[in-house]
This record gives sequence, C-alpha cells and structure tokens, in this order.
Amino acid sequence: MQRILVTGGAGFIGSNFVRLAVANTDRHITVLDALTYAGDRATLAELPPDRVAFAHGNVADADLVDRLVADTDTVVHFAAESHNDNSLRDPSPFLTTNLIGTYTLLEAVRRHGVRLHHISTDEVYGDLELDDPERFTEATAYNPSSPYSATKAGSDLLVRAWVRSFGVQATISNCSNNYGPWQHIEKFIPRQITNVLDGRRPKLYGAGLNVRDWIHVDDHNSAVLTILERGESGETYLIGADGEVDNKTVIETILRLMGEPADAYDHVTDRAGHDLRYAIDSTKLRTELGWQPRFSDFEAGLAATIDWYRTHESWWRPRKEAIEAAYAKAGQ
Ligand code: NAD
Ligand code: DAU
Repeated sequence: MQRILVTGGAGFIGSNFVRLAVANTDRHITVLDALTYAGDRATLAELPPDRVAFAHGNVADADLVDRLVADTDTVVHFAAESHNDNSLRDPSPFLTTNLIGTYTLLEAVRRHGVRLHHISTDEVYGDLELDDPERFTEATAYNPSSPYSATKAGSDLLVRAWVRSFGVQATISNCSNNYGPWQHIEKFIPRQITNVLDGRRPKLYGAGLNVRDWIHVDDHNSAVLTILERGESGETYLIGADGEVDNKTVIETILRLMGEPADAYDHVTDRAGHDLRYAIDSTKLRTELGWQPRFSDFEAGLAATIDWYRTHESWWRPRKEAIEAAYAKAGQ
C-alpha cells in the first residue's frame, strides 16, 4: 500500500484532505502535526485507525521528520502558520514553521528520494486592482505583501531551488481562499458565522470592497489528489473555482442566510497592508490534468457551512472568547 505523510493534517485543509484521501484512495496516511492553537485531533476523529496514524511533532524537527520521511512514499505539506492577522502581530513563528519547516522537509525528501507536494497560496502573487481583467497564472511574478505571504513565497522558492539544484521530485499548488467545515474561527467566514450564533455583530475590515476568490475545501483537496496522480514534477499548478466575491457581500449573505438584517454588522479597523483582490486562472490544472471543481454554488456552500457551525458548537465554543478578545485589542 502506498504511504502518504501529511504535515499539518490536524488543521482545516489538511484534515479535510485526510478524510477525502481515505474515502477516495487506498493509501495509508500518517499525519505529522504540532497541534498548535490551529491544530486539533478532533478534526480527525472517526477515521479508521488502520488507515490513519498520528505523529505529534514539529515539521522543523529534523530527526523526527527524517524518520517519518524514510518510511513514506509521498509527502503532502500543509503545515504552516496560516493567518495573516497573526503574522502582523508576531511574524516569528511564521519564519520558523513556513521557512525552516519547509527546508527541513526538503532535506529529508532529498536524502530519501521521496516525492513532495507543497501546498501554497495565491497570496504569493500580491494583489490585483478591482478592475484588472488579468487573473493570477503560474507565470505571474511573486510580490507578497504580508509576513505570512512572504514566508509562503519563500517556501515555494525553496521547493523550486531543491528541484533544480538537487533533483528533488516536487510539485507546488497555489490555491485561493478556502471555506468549509473545520476552519478555525479566527478566519473571516467562520468568525462571522460564529459571531451571529453567539449574538455578536459580524466585523468587516474597512469598507469591505476587498475581493477573495472562494473555493470549497473539498475542491481544493480534490485538485491536490489530481496533482498527486497526474502532476508533473517541477510544475506549479494554480487551484481556483472562479469564486470572486467582495467581503461586504459575503457578510451580507451570511446575515441573510442566518435570518438577520443584512446591515447588522460593524465596520472595524482595516488590516495593515490589506491585499485588495485575488483571482485565480486555473486553466493549466483544468486542461493539462483534467480537474474540475464540484462546488459551483457559493451561496449553497455557505449555507451548508453555516449548518456545520450550528451543529458543531462544542468544537468552536471554547475558542471563541479568546479569539474575540485578541481581535478587540487590535480594534477589530
Ligand atoms: P490551519 O492553520 O488551519 O492548519 C495548520 C496546521 O498546521 C495545524 O494543524 C497546525 O497545528 C499545524 N502546524 C503549524 N505549525 C506546525 C509545525 N511547526 N509543525 C507541524 N505542524 C504544524 O491552516 P489551513 O488553513 O488548513 O492551511 C493549510 C495550508 O494551506 C497552509 O500551508 C496554507 O498556507 C495553505 N493555504 C491555505 C488557504 C486557506 O484559505 N486557508 C488557501 C491556500 C493555501
Ligand atoms: O488566498 C489564500 C489565503 O486565504 C490563505 O493563504 C490564508 O492562509 C487564508 O487565511 C486566507 O487569507 P485571507 O487573509 O484572505 O483570509 P481571512 O479569512 O483572514 O480574511 C478574508 C478577508 O476578510 C480579508 O480580506 C480580510 C477580511 N476580514 C477578515 C476577518 C478575520 C474581515 O473583513 N473581517 C474579519 O473579521
């Protein structure tokens, strides 16, 4: 049986990936996760123990990573510090995990001749004007804005250098904004849903004209499975599902779907250096690898996500107070 090591598999996208891979492949999966504030073993509950093993540890721990990589065929690298606002408060863990962690993995896959798929973000390309007819492609120049996106850009460049200089077998994907179950409530959509469920008003940064290109997490992960099956080493693939929506519209839609007046939200302090717009052109992935997204109706996906947070209150409730206190301190 083929074995996959999934770093960051107890977080939002990684845990959904493990679930999808268990359902759609016969591979054995080992999750390596440091269980930071963003990781939780509850995200992996009810998965068959003969298919999924768990290793608690840090992706920057060279000895541990070497042992795990020696025992696998493929690594899928999700582990990262992932939240822009946190990177503005304290960039330091972003450098350790996103840069040193990726370097540590690269050295291990190089030693053991193991294939790597590196999960990255569209934020490495910086942002677009609202009226720019262009979207990001694999050829767009890197121009990251935040400490988070700068460290993700750096990690991508490390992967490219290890492919070119050392012949490491690796692919990279850069995806747009994900939504769906198990997303940490610090992030935009689950923060607003849980605000409404908690009797708080949703919080919109600035005027809320910023556009994000939303994709359901299962579409992101089906694209990753496609790249694992058919992707070519050394190549980068952009993942997106044509889901551009501005933040103001997202908040108003959440309020409407939850039976609240569409204007029942607050404008709060804008994010420093706030990227205006992301937009992905995923033609390469669709034409070369034959991938298609399944979730084309964003409003239906949002409604299902609202239901998920309604029925999983015991998961998010213990985190809510501390998250909101940290935002309040920043005027957000
Ligand atoms: P997340 O914050 O929900 O999960 C990150 C996981 O990594 C957690 O389980 C955490 O415990 C683990 N982790 C953090 N530091 C670690 C370390 N040093 N060693 C081992 N494990 C560690 O993040 P997410 O939203 O699921 O993002 C996963 C990946 O996808 C990241 O690489 C991110 O850059 C990328 N990405 C995210 C999005 C998005 O919209 N969320 C979009 C594109 C790409
Ligand atoms: O584009 C991919 C990226 O998407 C990933 O690389 C990141 O890991 C992921 O966190 C996400 O980054 P964003 O910064 O776009 O996501 P976030 O959920 O933090 O914010 C989405 C938008 O909503 C952004 O324009 C800021 C705004 N926002 C956010 C919060 C938390 C608000 O208006 N109010 C809020 O309370």
